[in-house]
Amino acid sequence: MKPLFITFEGGDGAGKSLQILRFKEYLETLNHKVVLTREPGSTEVGKEIRKILVEGDKDKIDETTELLLFYADRRINLTKVILPALSEGKTVISDRYNDSTIAYQYYGSNKFNDTSLMDNLYQIVAEGKKPDITFLLDVDVKIGLERSFNKAKTEQTKELRFENVDISFHERLRNGYLEIAKKEPQRFCIIDANKTIDEVSLEIIEKFNQKIKEL
Ligand code: TYD
Repeated sequence: MKPLFITFEGGDGAGKSLQILRFKEYLETLNHKVVLTREPGSTEVGKEIRKILVEGDKDKIDETTELLLFYADRRINLTKVILPALSEGKTVISDRYNDSTIAYQYYGSNKFNDTSLMDNLYQIVAEGKKPDITFLLDVDVKIGLERSFNKAKTEQTKELRFENVDISFHERLRNGYLEIAKKEPQRFCIIDANKTIDEVSLEIIEKFNQKIKEL
């Protein structure tokens, strides 16, 4: 099996984590050796960065600091996890990657006028390394936020820094993701994540099987 670099993207509460576990099992039935990773927080150092990014008040760091921390974390994920695994012939699934930054920091936050800073950082940090396939789990904002808060309640998480911003942020984020996907239809599979867990898993597998023929 040719090793693939696959990413999952989507707003908060889109259901990425569970779908990633299920899709990993599916890939293993096709004899892929699969490595799972995530952003932010792929390694021990990444976890330290993650803590700064996702816990506490929205205003504790400004948008530029936040952006630089996401790219520092991405560099670690790429050099310590993604590239080594691919070179060993393993398939990598990353829960979020560069599209998250464009969606959250550019489309979601109103701080940056264009994506030039992000595009430059992406070139430096990732040398433009792109996923082969990206699944965008597209969910209605209200449904996503409700799922997120329910999950946070049961898991007693402190990681609500991004969920705690206003609903218009999440609307911009969702539309932003759809814009990004429109620009690269060869890489993206848009999945309707409002549906049941089983229906979403099935759509992911079906779209993967179509996409793989085009690669
Ligand atoms: P994640 O752990 O995927 O959260 P969730 O499971 O709630 O989707 O990501 C943590 C938060 O970090 C999430 O709200 C999205 C945000 N984020 C960015 O704003 N920019 C980025 O580049 C990345 C990777 C994540």
